[in-house]
Amino acid sequence: MSDTAPRKRTWLVLGASSSVGRAFARLAAQQGADIVLAGRDTDDLNRTAADVALRTGASVDVMPFDAADFDSHAAFAADCARRDSALDVFLLFGTMHEQDDSDADFDLVRQTVNVNYLGAVSILDRLAPILEEQGDGRVVVLSSVAGDRGRRKNYLYGSAKGALNLYLQGLRARLFEAGVSVTTVKAGFLDTDMTFGLPGLFLVASPQECAEACLRLSAKGRETAYFPKFWFLIMTIIKSIPEPIFKRLSI
Ligand SMILES: NC(=O)c1ccc[n+]([C@@H]2O[C@H](COP(=O)([O-])OP(=O)(O)OC[C@H]3O[C@@H](n4cnc5c(N)ncnc54)[C@H](OP(=O)(O)O)[C@@H]3O)[C@@H](O)[C@H]2O)c1
Repeated sequence: MSDTAPRKRTWLVLGASSSVGRAFARLAAQQGADIVLAGRDTDDLNRTAADVALRTGASVDVMPFDAADFDSHAAFAADCARRDSALDVFLLFGTMHEQDDSDADFDLVRQTVNVNYLGAVSILDRLAPILEEQGDGRVVVLSSVAGDRGRRKNYLYGSAKGALNLYLQGLRARLFEAGVSVTTVKAGFLDTDMTFGLPGLFLVASPQECAEACLRLSAKGRETAYFPKFWFLIMTIIKSIPEPIFKRLSI
């Protein structure tokens, strides 16, 4: 290999048992990247790894990862740093409970904040120095339109995603100096396990389309984007409703 040959890249998929994560892994592998599937359900991840490797010929590894086990994150990141290839990161783990259930059980509150916010901060804080040292790369995070405004029916989950979005703004500025892009994808409703059976969903997008958008938007180096795009309009309207009116809406 010549000195100028581009370095092999690895996409680390954090939350790879999600149908969006599986689709993303397949797409990234088709584009020539190696893949690391990270998550709690390693049986599921091993099945996905075998499938993606068979379809694409990519090298696909599985790493156990629990977003709420903060103490394990430093060793996890160190294992990632030992890989030969350059790292790109797709973070999409998350959890959502009904607001009423969380109101009645603080353990659900803790889990929501620990996974959606603190878990993301914890692992990204550990991966950031690796990306800075690398001097290039992409981070893309699947967040939610729920983080744009606190709604009566979903404000706990929304607050965790909103905090995550603010954290990502700062991380973006930090990593920009090192040539690493950070893309926040604020998704509307997706047809995944998280929303299975939930009432009141509309304009639901597929996991495949979402994965394609995440890969495309990060390749363009976009900072923040809504997926599907029309959520920008919906959220612009929602954010413009004055608080005295908004607090009376049961949404
Ligand atoms: N579905 C929607 O309408 C929608 C809309 C906007 C944003 N999002 C966001 O999109 C992302 C993907 O969600 P999804 O819709 O694909 O739902 P999903 O199928 O339930 O996926 C959630 C993923 O998070 C992982 N996860 C949960 N707790 C974890 C923990 N403690 N440690 C490691 N991984 C953990 C799950 O892994 P396990 O298999 O181990 O549980 C799973 O891979 C989430 O961040 C979600 O908030 C979803």
